[in-house]
Amino acid sequence: MTIKKKFPILLLFVCSGFSLGVAQKVSVVSPRVEMQENPLGIDRKDPHFSWQLKSGMNDVQQTGYEIQMGTDLQGLKRGNNLMWQSGLVSSDHMQVGYQGSPLQSGKEYYWRVRVHTNCGESHWSAVQRFTTGLLHDTDWVAKWIGEDAMSNPGESQTELHTRLAARYLRKDFQASSHVSRATLYISGLGYYQAFLNGKCVSEDLLTPSITFYSETVYYNTYDVTRLVHGGDNALGVILGNGRYFWVRGSGMEGFGLPRLLAQLVIEYADGTKKIIASDETWKVTSKGPIVANNEFDDEEYDMRKELSGWNVSGYNDAAWKNADIMSVPCKRLRAQPCPSVAVMERLRPLSVTRLASGKVLIDMGQNMVGRLNASFQGKEGQKVIMRFAELINPDSTLYVANLRTAQATDVFTPAADGRFSWAPVFVYHGFRYVEIDSIEGRPDTDDFVGEVMYDKMKCTGDFETSNAVVNQIFKNAYWGIRGNYHNMPTDCPQRDERHGWLGDRATGCWGESFMFDNALLYRKWLQDIEESQREDGVVSAVSPRFWTIYSGDVTWPSVYILAAEMLYRHYGDTTAIVRHYDSMKCWVEYICQNSMKDGLVVRDEWGDWCMPPESPELIHSQDPLRKTDGAILGSTTFYGLLYKMMEFARLTGHPEDVDNYRTHAEVLKKAYNKRFFNYETAQYGNNSVTGNLLSLRYGLVPEGYEQRVFQNVVDKTEKDCKGHVSAGVVGIQHLMRGLTEYGRKDLAYKIVTNTDYPSWGYMIEKGATTIWELWNGDTAAPDMNSANHVMLLGDLLIWYYENLAGIKNAEESVGFRHIEMKPCFPDGLSYVKASYQSVSGEIASHWSRTGKEFSWEVTIPANCSATVYLPIALHPEKPEAVRAHSIKRAGEYWVVELGSGDYRFQSKI
Ligand code: BGC
Repeated sequence: MTIKKKFPILLLFVCSGFSLGVAQKVSVVSPRVEMQENPLGIDRKDPHFSWQLKSGMNDVQQTGYEIQMGTDLQGLKRGNNLMWQSGLVSSDHMQVGYQGSPLQSGKEYYWRVRVHTNCGESHWSAVQRFTTGLLHDTDWVAKWIGEDAMSNPGESQTELHTRLAARYLRKDFQASSHVSRATLYISGLGYYQAFLNGKCVSEDLLTPSITFYSETVYYNTYDVTRLVHGGDNALGVILGNGRYFWVRGSGMEGFGLPRLLAQLVIEYADGTKKIIASDETWKVTSKGPIVANNEFDDEEYDMRKELSGWNVSGYNDAAWKNADIMSVPCKRLRAQPCPSVAVMERLRPLSVTRLASGKVLIDMGQNMVGRLNASFQGKEGQKVIMRFAELINPDSTLYVANLRTAQATDVFTPAADGRFSWAPVFVYHGFRYVEIDSIEGRPDTDDFVGEVMYDKMKCTGDFETSNAVVNQIFKNAYWGIRGNYHNMPTDCPQRDERHGWLGDRATGCWGESFMFDNALLYRKWLQDIEESQREDGVVSAVSPRFWTIYSGDVTWPSVYILAAEMLYRHYGDTTAIVRHYDSMKCWVEYICQNSMKDGLVVRDEWGDWCMPPESPELIHSQDPLRKTDGAILGSTTFYGLLYKMMEFARLTGHPEDVDNYRTHAEVLKKAYNKRFFNYETAQYGNNSVTGNLLSLRYGLVPEGYEQRVFQNVVDKTEKDCKGHVSAGVVGIQHLMRGLTEYGRKDLAYKIVTNTDYPSWGYMIEKGATTIWELWNGDTAAPDMNSANHVMLLGDLLIWYYENLAGIKNAEESVGFRHIEMKPCFPDGLSYVKASYQSVSGEIASHWSRTGKEFSWEVTIPANCSATVYLPIALHPEKPEAVRAHSIKRAGEYWVVELGSGDYRFQSKI
């Protein structure tokens, strides 16, 4: 029944404001530039610097910071040659844009930070190194090179199963010893894999990150100092096709034949430099072992064509051609601003079975995304064929109908009889099962590894409760989300789509950020969205616009504004809002002029996509009583976005725009209620849950009618849907929070713990280990029925963290500096244990109710604060105010204001 400090009394005193002069009770950790631990090749003029504080004490508040940055480590430590010396800046911010003298191309920089707090000064943080990329086009001496022809029989460029062999490029060069630094700046389209003296330069895969290539192409920067040696060296690069050579089913031509740009800069101890740059003196061949590769179909590797030693010096490349100079593929060449894909986890199969057909069936036990690393016994010239699928048929054959035209088949041809290990490099598949044809012997689980591939990013959240269904949904979501992070948030990883469909992540991106450190991915994706925007402002519903869809609707593109807001609110990063404000404004104007009629948004392409349909085999409902009017979806969403634009206008220094957005919003609200609201029944349109809920959540309901509108949501859910979801992709973004905030946490809890149709639990009952595209994924037609989509998660993960754990960035707070801890404690749940690595540090909440015991432990990071809502029903006595800033009784809660630290509330109920 008290707030118990976990720390000794003495320390509490020290921390309570009057400093005893004991220093270093606070340290600065996680210094980051551009939110990265090891930032190489930054090409932003004003990179974003950030840090966190760590302290064993409570109530720590930063009062100032001091940053130093220089070009050499020793100089920095002595305070010499500094390029940026902020001096002591009075501020509680832990994120700041670079303010020193201009950064130079291709340099190394070192920086550190120390802080002043109410509990004393910290030491200097650890020094963080970062390097800059090539900041000016003129820094590039390299030329784009490749083989400007299809020179293998059977190569083709078609709308579907494109075939093209990989290109191998190489260059021998000399270096003297005493290399002080060697840096490789490289891009290769569609994908490349680079070797220096036979060693792969990085663990990154599928680089560079996908973009709409004719606009922007990214290059990567690698520190290869350890790979260059005095004497003969060789640089070798393989080029894969990725989406550059052709984009599946796009209706557009491919971008072109693969091409490479590489510039290796070697710096010597005496200050001189040598540059090895791609040009016509490089050699190229497409007669190597990767005889075909295509993101959606396969990689085919013919070992008989191996070019033994091709990527080390001294290889005889006389039979290779001189590289062709290729055209410049893009308007802009930029440093890749987001993490690359890599193997992030390795899984052993659950089972490996030799079928009666002689084929081998591997069950990974988990629907995963990546590749199979296989060891097997093969025969000379006999193709080993590996087919991938998410599901199997009752007779153990693969179920591939839902892959549509994606062949998902890798092929390896041995050069002799024997044992081989192989994994492809330019493909990934979404799969749980692999069927292998033509391997000998008795393969078992030790022979195969499922290599899980997605963008290198940290996991930011742990979450566990007393309910197994709630936990399993979290796990399925975790697998689904990371499997769909491939340089952009994709819709699905397995069929012939794999696109950045905007609507799928509109609200999802907020929930995902509790699980993954996804800031750079989303920041990059917003850039893709902007680059896919048409001049008149309309945004493509698929970005990068490999499928160019200018539908003019609001619901899908809403993510442009929502994700920028997420980056600001959750990560404290205003970059996206500042950078995209003009384009967002242009989009808003487009909608006002082209998609609205009589004050309402009337264009809507996809409706409340994938709502539970009236019969099990249907993908989309045809029933007008279930479907929500598109004008309701578009108008409510747009109304919400106009308010966000008002905030963005203020933030970016465009106060003159605010009135315009407000006027649109007011006109819309009037027109909307006039057209859709029935004042007698308090229903919107056909009374769908989605229609009523969106109107409520966006604040369109006329004052005084809110409870009645909400009652309609409840009645429909309870009576017509027997306590189940009736929403699709749009409505589901508000369902869990809406039910809880208006007082029916019990109904929200029922929906999340349901295991019958339609529910997330139903998917699990039916064996899902990810989240399905359709509520009825087990019975619907295969045409649009992936077993790994994440859009139906809606606001579920947000609800997990904010409403179950009580970890919520408070209303006006940025970067979790002030946290609202108000779990809803649903009946039936006896504990929740969650943590979240926010930009400001770790936040944790662990509450439990067992018998008559109630306890709740919370962790609030240094330089942050929290308002804790402690239900009087669970904690009848006023908590003793040992360290709280204040404790007030408000309605059914004790409202406790806390500073940073660890706290525990305990009581007997
Ligand atoms: C995609 C979805 C997407 C939708 C839009 C589908 O094919 O897989 O995720 O949002 O199309 O219509």
